[in-house]
Amino acid sequence: MERVQLFIHIRFLWGVHPANLLRVEGEQMSDLPMIENAWLKVLNGKILGVGRMSDINLAEETDSTIIDLQGKSILPAWCDSHTHLVFAATREEEFLQKIEGKSYEEIAASGGGILNSALKLQSTPEDVLYEQAAARLSALVATGTGAIEIKSGYGLSVEGELKMLRVIKRLKQSFQIPIRTTFLGAHAYPTVFKNDHPAYIRLIIEEMLPNIAAEGLADYIDVFCEQGFFSLEETKQIVEAGQKFGLKPKLHVNQLSNNGGVQLGVAMNALSLDHLEEIGQAEIEVLKGKATMATLLPGCSFFLGIPFAPAKTMIENGLGIALASDFNPGSSPSGNMHFILKLACIKMKLLPEQAVNALTLNGAYAMELSADFGSITKGKAANFIVTKPIDHLVSLAYHFGDNLIDSVYICGKKW
Ligand code: NIG
Ligand code: FE
Repeated sequence: MERVQLFIHIRFLWGVHPANLLRVEGEQMSDLPMIENAWLKVLNGKILGVGRMSDINLAEETDSTIIDLQGKSILPAWCDSHTHLVFAATREEEFLQKIEGKSYEEIAASGGGILNSALKLQSTPEDVLYEQAAARLSALVATGTGAIEIKSGYGLSVEGELKMLRVIKRLKQSFQIPIRTTFLGAHAYPTVFKNDHPAYIRLIIEEMLPNIAAEGLADYIDVFCEQGFFSLEETKQIVEAGQKFGLKPKLHVNQLSNNGGVQLGVAMNALSLDHLEEIGQAEIEVLKGKATMATLLPGCSFFLGIPFAPAKTMIENGLGIALASDFNPGSSPSGNMHFILKLACIKMKLLPEQAVNALTLNGAYAMELSADFGSITKGKAANFIVTKPIDHLVSLAYHFGDNLIDSVYICGKKW
């Protein structure tokens, strides 16, 4: 029988939410329950209990393996609900073009961007893609990611999309962290369909979706709903087709323009609406009181130099928000969620408690995982981050150039 692991002398144990809380919204986003000078017990990969050091008699804990954290602190592992982790190559050449003044849209319109990634992915064998993605994921877990969503969307052909989704399936089989898969065939129109958009949509609906469903390769469906990419009408058509196969929508909306994506996504019961850099009060009103999670991606704003989503105003209006990395080679070439926390506090002016809730519990909600992940709660997976010794939660953002993560535990095992 496995022995209980007892972590002791935890300076701050953050994120001790009640078990029935699946997400936080509005004022509740500032509430990150914490136990000072705490202990944490883990058994069989799950959290067995938490408490104060003053309430435990270590002499009686003879059945436990004791791990003395000596004043380090614990946070729930990050739950990254939006990534494009599987890709064939980085895009430094486009970064140089950006430095020289070209915009994301200009680069995309000249055959770069998503189409550039799709071209490279076409000629990359599945095994190579898998090895690259596994190495990336392994490195991300070391930075504290304990649950993740991964999208397809660089295949843009039946074989290409299936190849990506099979890679994600293999990652699911070989990693202990939960992975949710999103089918994003509608990421861009491939060059061969440049002048026949309806034909590409037919390919998605009639070829890709049935094959994906037959192999059980996706949990969700996504569309890049944006001027120059997929219109509202096209988005609706693709989402409806995905829903017939049981795939819930998680959509890219309002990234570059305010074009009604939020209204459409909420009307279609999206699990999450992601980006939201270009929203106003009307979109905030539409999101109020809905099951849809507003997911913000400050890494993309930072890297592309586009506006940050109005996170603070959203929370003041009673919304819950999740924060995710959007890890991809074009608009956010980092999956480091600790950096996202720094951006949220520095650029979006979120309180560290709000940012941590957005990066953990609400991120888990945006993957339908928050009953089992995203907080330090009895019965949930023992996926957590041990920080270096810090005196305040805000230190994690204040020391913006430092890595304050000491170690990461997944199902109670040190990564
Ligand atoms: O979330 N906006 C669309 N998709 C990605 C970027 C993909 C790429 O440029 O390769 C995003 O920003
Ligand atoms: Fe994205």
